[in-house]
Amino acid sequence: MERLTPLHCNGCMNEILVLGGTGKTGRRIVHRLHAAGIPVRVGSRTAPIPFDWTDRATWAPALSGIETVYVSYYPDLAVPGAPDDIGAFTTAAVDAGVSRLVLLSGRGEDEAATCERVVQGAGIDWTVLRCSWFNQNFSEDYLLDAVLAGEVALPVADVPEPFVDADDIADVAVAALTQDGHAGQVYELTGPRLLTFADAVAEIAAATGRPVTFVQVPPQDYAAALPPEVAELLMYLFTTVLDGRNAHLTGDLRRVLGREPRDFAEYAKATADVW
Ligand SMILES: NC(=O)c1ccc[n+]([C@@H]2O[C@H](COP(=O)([O-])OP(=O)(O)OC[C@H]3O[C@@H](n4cnc5c(N)ncnc54)[C@H](OP(=O)(O)O)[C@@H]3O)[C@@H](O)[C@H]2O)c1
Repeated sequence: MERLTPLHCNGCMNEILVLGGTGKTGRRIVHRLHAAGIPVRVGSRTAPIPFDWTDRATWAPALSGIETVYVSYYPDLAVPGAPDDIGAFTTAAVDAGVSRLVLLSGRGEDEAATCERVVQGAGIDWTVLRCSWFNQNFSEDYLLDAVLAGEVALPVADVPEPFVDADDIADVAVAALTQDGHAGQVYELTGPRLLTFADAVAEIAAATGRPVTFVQVPPQDYAAALPPEVAELLMYLFTTVLDGRNAHLTGDLRRVLGREPRDFAEYAKATADVW
């Protein structure tokens, strides 16, 4: 069950464009904005006004009449083409009259940092949500099949990561999209606890009551088993970024929301029926 942040729509808000509005963070943001009575335009290839990162002709229609945008890039801000796309999109947004961008970003990634600087230099209000690994990678993304098969095999050792929940990210995003006081802020969003991947998988096994194991595999074996279109990105995320550089907690989520972030164990318990 997705939690709702109480909001008060002043009746003065234009439609908010939520890119990736059918994805892990975006659809939670859309849900919250709808619940608050704030008009939303979903930005995705399947939306009524389609938006496609690979077809720039779709950008102006999606941006028409929009002042505020949640920017979730696909596939990942860490890929080499991301800064070019984010630069072109930011220019298109400013030209269309957008005055506020909220960028979903990742921690410790060079390309993502370049994208952040592009948005920060656009001359309009910006907020960066620089997030750690999402809990929902295990239930709504590329780790789901492995969990269902009972074995999560990854090229990672015992590097701790402060997994963060997509519901918490959505709560922060909605605050940044709809409230004053978040412009010019970089929020580093982490969960409340450092866990290794082995710890996280053990939490899932405990929540489901059936065996799910974690196995560390050599990077070359992992790469060889990946579909070519995601191999480079996942190898970068697992072997370069996951080296301990992000193995610390921040208090930013608590600072914005005035409450504790959701713990991985609570996420696993609430998600057990998916596994
Ligand atoms: N996963 C993590 O642990 C993590 C951590 C930190 C940061 N991030 C960042 O999170 C972002 C992804 O956000 P998310 O996880 O919320 O989304 P997601 O679950 O990966 O969903 C992808 C979204 O993008 C849309 N999409 C797919 N291809 C598209 C295209 N060519 N053009 C336009 N839209 C497209 C999809 O909708 P349609 O299929 O309907 O088009 C969907 O709404 C990445 O930029 C990544 O850097 C992720």
